[in-house]
Amino acid sequence: MSKYSDAELYANYQDILDLVKRKDLTMADEIYKIPVSEYADRGIWEREVKLVRRTPMMLGFSCDLPEPGSYWAMTRVGVPLLLTRLKTGEVRLFINACRHRGVKVANEGQGKQPRFTCLYHAWTYGLDGSLLALPENRIFGDVDKCDYGLIELAVEERAGIIWGVLTPGVALDLDDFLGEELDAMLRKEGFERFHSVELVELPAANWKITYEGNGESYHFASLHAKSFASFTYPNILHNTKLGKHSLNMTPVVGIEKCDPSSRADLERFVQRSYMLFPGTVCSFASDTAFGERDSKSEVVSRIFMNHVLPGDSPETSITISRTLVSAPFVGTPIEEETRIWARSSHETVRLEDYPVVQSAQDTVHSGGQDYFTFGRNEIALHHFHDALHEALKDEALDA
Ligand code: FES
Ligand SMILES: [Fe+2]
Repeated sequence: MSKYSDAELYANYQDILDLVKRKDLTMADEIYKIPVSEYADRGIWEREVKLVRRTPMMLGFSCDLPEPGSYWAMTRVGVPLLLTRLKTGEVRLFINACRHRGVKVANEGQGKQPRFTCLYHAWTYGLDGSLLALPENRIFGDVDKCDYGLIELAVEERAGIIWGVLTPGVALDLDDFLGEELDAMLRKEGFERFHSVELVELPAANWKITYEGNGESYHFASLHAKSFASFTYPNILHNTKLGKHSLNMTPVVGIEKCDPSSRADLERFVQRSYMLFPGTVCSFASDTAFGERDSKSEVVSRIFMNHVLPGDSPETSITISRTLVSAPFVGTPIEEETRIWARSSHETVRLEDYPVVQSAQDTVHSGGQDYFTFGRNEIALHHFHDALHEALKDEALDA
């Protein structure tokens, strides 16, 4: 039986209740050290960028391309991308660059249109990336339109999530990337029923320093004493390693009053955060984080996702921060409440997390210390760095 059968998940919720009562958490056997040079070395950073561009990336959700003709043009890790949904319902992913002389064929953003006409000389492409027409074809010269479609990238829509790979010619093997267990877990989360509420891009320091704040709640009691720690217990965390990835489960304040025999009750007091390699954390937040509701009311599910990507130097990153709400609550006051909560949470990250992250970044080049140390309680970050070290050995990154 899969470890994450429903019965196992419920057992884990009960474990978390137990951890709260014992003020305990999943711990590594030993502390873990990372050379500070790994955050400063340009060669390592360039290899990381290549890795990120070759690794399946959670680019969006089914709701981002709601109907045939929907598109989303975005830039990720310096790569201009164009996601489209065809008339058949299939999703396609391209480099958003005209094959004539490189101008983006779609302006950044989301919308719906049947074709894309480049502003510069009006070469026109279909939703499937094919070059449909170029003006003055006769005098332009000998161009076989079949050779001039948009450059295609591997993409797959699976269980409400749109995954893509940012390097042309690199295949997308989700079965291998996720593994059977995580794949089954993500399918059960029902991403298809979520709708986007908020998307912001937050600039910060080095992507690893920035991402690390998403993998431990050790800092909640000090840095977030008046914010996140008011509804999430600091430093109590249930961690499960899933290949390159992790699942962190954290208890919401009030769980200790739950009836351990009521799975539904427990579920509302546990936040599940999937740490998807390398830099994505996708959290399912408990309804109770937003105040008490009638326990018989429908559970409001919300996704908070932070997608931390390398910026244009080892010292910078961009966090794509997204908030989604489950379908029955779209257009209700709960959607607006979720938006307000998301905005205040972004402010907390901007005002509390990112200054300390920048402060750590400022010391990286000082040469004052050789390594950073991760405690036994920061186990998810041990997994992250282990997986990253392993992935960076890939000879494909030598090219
Ligand atoms: S660059 Fe697009 S048509 Fe010339
Ligand atoms: Fe934080």
